[in-house]
Amino acid sequence: MAMILVAGGTGFIGSHVVRCLAADGHQVIALSRNPERARGRLPEGVTLRSGDIRDEATLGPALEGVDVVVSAVQFPNHPVENPRRGYTYVEVDGEGTVRLVRAARRAGVRRFIYVSGAGTREGQTKPWFVAKLMAEKAVRESGIPYTIFRPSWVYGPEDRSLNKFATFARVLPFVPVIGSGRTRVQPLYVDDLAEAVAASLASEKAVNQVYEIGGPEELTMDEIIRTMLRVMGRRRPLLHAPAGLVKLAAWPLQFLPAPPLSPAAVDFVLMEEPVDNTGVLRDLGLRLTPLAEGLRYLR
Ligand SMILES: NC(=O)c1ccc[n+]([C@@H]2O[C@H](COP(=O)([O-])OP(=O)(O)OC[C@H]3O[C@@H](n4cnc5c(N)ncnc54)[C@H](OP(=O)(O)O)[C@@H]3O)[C@@H](O)[C@H]2O)c1
Repeated sequence: MAMILVAGGTGFIGSHVVRCLAADGHQVIALSRNPERARGRLPEGVTLRSGDIRDEATLGPALEGVDVVVSAVQFPNHPVENPRRGYTYVEVDGEGTVRLVRAARRAGVRRFIYVSGAGTREGQTKPWFVAKLMAEKAVRESGIPYTIFRPSWVYGPEDRSLNKFATFARVLPFVPVIGSGRTRVQPLYVDDLAEAVAASLASEKAVNQVYEIGGPEELTMDEIIRTMLRVMGRRRPLLHAPAGLVKLAAWPLQFLPAPPLSPAAVDFVLMEEPVDNTGVLRDLGLRLTPLAEGLRYLR
């Protein structure tokens, strides 16, 4: 069994990957900027190492003895960037991954799994895609056998997006939705992504592959929220706020020391990037969880 370092192992997706790999019998280490704070959130037997992908000097010690790196890092308060604190797509997801790949190569790592994002392809100009392209390029050109996953919107018990709508449904007489509600998404259950990562480690076919991955259904945002309400047993009308108006309201907020919203973050949540599951289904033997089943944790 391999020694696997999960960068982002204390986060939403990373902690599910950690649990899945630990259950498969691997020796799992979660990388964290603050291991003390994260300790209680990880299962027995998983160790923590200190490291910050914005500071390359911290990564050598963190990677000692490591065979495999899984990278699922995101800056705090994503998708609202905070350039004053260095919390930007390019600094963390882009240049941070370049540093992690470089350190992994020096440490003799034998496999690198990178969690990218749906829609990443040449020609994209939004900052999240620029960062993902930079990161994917570093991974592909590292000489380390790799697998890249490009997931669509991921949901699960600890996510900070779909669960916001669940909270609205509990405390408000309506559910607010930015935009028309007609944006099409393929919501992916977090454990399906964690299983895909684990399966890719055991599969020769997955070496040097880039996989798109999304849930089994393509739904509009309104359909997703209505499914959520049905699972929760609640009836609430959806109240749509025009995207242009929300962006206008968000414009001054981006200059606050800790911005709660920005116009770019509104663009991020409204993006529509369909994915094709052919590769993951063919090579990794996954069963993708339908939304109503994945949302059972809300009952
Ligand atoms: N969530 C989605 O719907 C979705 C969809 C597609 C792709 N993705 C991709 O999946 C990845 C993980 O997303 P997530 O939603 O799971 O993020 P998340 O919950 O916000 O997790 C962030 C993780 O990154 C770590 N981190 C932040 N800054 C770091 C730094 N400078 N050095 C080292 N670690 C750092 C945090 O660890 P500490 O705080 O302990 O240091 C934490 O473990 C991202 O690359 C994201 O683009 C997510």
